[in-house]
Amino acid sequence: MITDYSQRLIVQEVSPRDGLQIEPVWVETADKIKLINQLSQGGFSRIEAGSFVSPKAIPALRDGEAVFQGIERRPGVVYVALVPNLKGAQRALESKADELNLVLSASQSHNKANMRMTREQSLVAFNEVVSLVRGSSVSLNGTVATTFGCPFEGRIDEDVVLRLIDAYQELGMHGVTLADTTGMANPRQVFQLVKRVLTQLPASQLTLHFHNTRGLGLSNVLAAYEAGARRFDASLGGLGGCPFAPGASGNICTEDLVNLCEEVGIDTGIDLPHLLTLSRSLPSLLGHEMPGQVAKAGRNCDLHPVPPGNG
Ligand code: COA
Ligand code: ZN
Repeated sequence: MITDYSQRLIVQEVSPRDGLQIEPVWVETADKIKLINQLSQGGFSRIEAGSFVSPKAIPALRDGEAVFQGIERRPGVVYVALVPNLKGAQRALESKADELNLVLSASQSHNKANMRMTREQSLVAFNEVVSLVRGSSVSLNGTVATTFGCPFEGRIDEDVVLRLIDAYQELGMHGVTLADTTGMANPRQVFQLVKRVLTQLPASQLTLHFHNTRGLGLSNVLAAYEAGARRFDASLGGLGGCPFAPGASGNICTEDLVNLCEEVGIDTGIDLPHLLTLSRSLPSLLGHEMPGQVAKAGRNCDLHPVPPGNG
């Protein structure tokens, strides 16, 4: 089968949220704002700029209000905030987030570890959020974390995921994200689930969120794309992870994803040289190397001089 790569792949940049939430060093508010402003210049249509969760749960993002108030809103960019409950939604609305991303886990045990609620309690909280935003221009996205596997429960039944998507649709949420929180998905599983989900949801409303924990992140992207998915989360440098999931590690790396797309001929609209420059500034901001590979290796077209004496 020869895949048609002519349709654009939309990248939502999540480093300011998923990327920074697990970092042990405190990133100053001004540096977060600078990062988001620089990302806004990179051609993204969507940036998850922060979360409004308990500051005790995620101290690294406790300055969400100041970040959202300080960023320059680039026209055409949707600035998304992750929220777990009504209080988070109120904070996000006051801070003028364009979209709220509500998260619950397909696995009950990860939802309890991450949100300190059952899935049913999360859905009740989301109902309150839906009532709050009704009539405003703010859009809602529902994420199903641990869709492809849970670090406590293992494999997740596809029907559980499908039922949660139904619940999100009944709540009137516009978008749905299926997240592989700890990188347990494989391409065959991804292809099968995406095919199934796209029978009840248009591709324009489905986002895939992969982590590269076991090295399968970009393979999973291609499998999802081949099954018809067109929207993907990714994080600059490959930063990221959930502090409430043992063994969590980075998201798929944005510049590695964009490089893959350029090599196989899928348009993303993202400025890869700009991203590489930004990614190469992360080690000095965060004090460690990034997992991303293209920032270290360079693009295929970044050639080296022929060694002297090569004949
Ligand atoms: N923003 C700020 N503070 C919040 C909040 C929010 N969205 N939700 C609750 N709080 C505060 C409460 O006001 C309360 O404060 P107090 O101790 O000063 O009185 C405290 O947090 C505890 O509130 P409670 O409702 O009992 O929450 P909890 O301790 O059971 O935690 C969550 C529930 C959902 C708030 C918390 O688990 C959470 O924020 N999880 C998100 C984790 C996350 O971001 N994971 C990664 C992304 S998927
Ligand atoms: Zn994630």
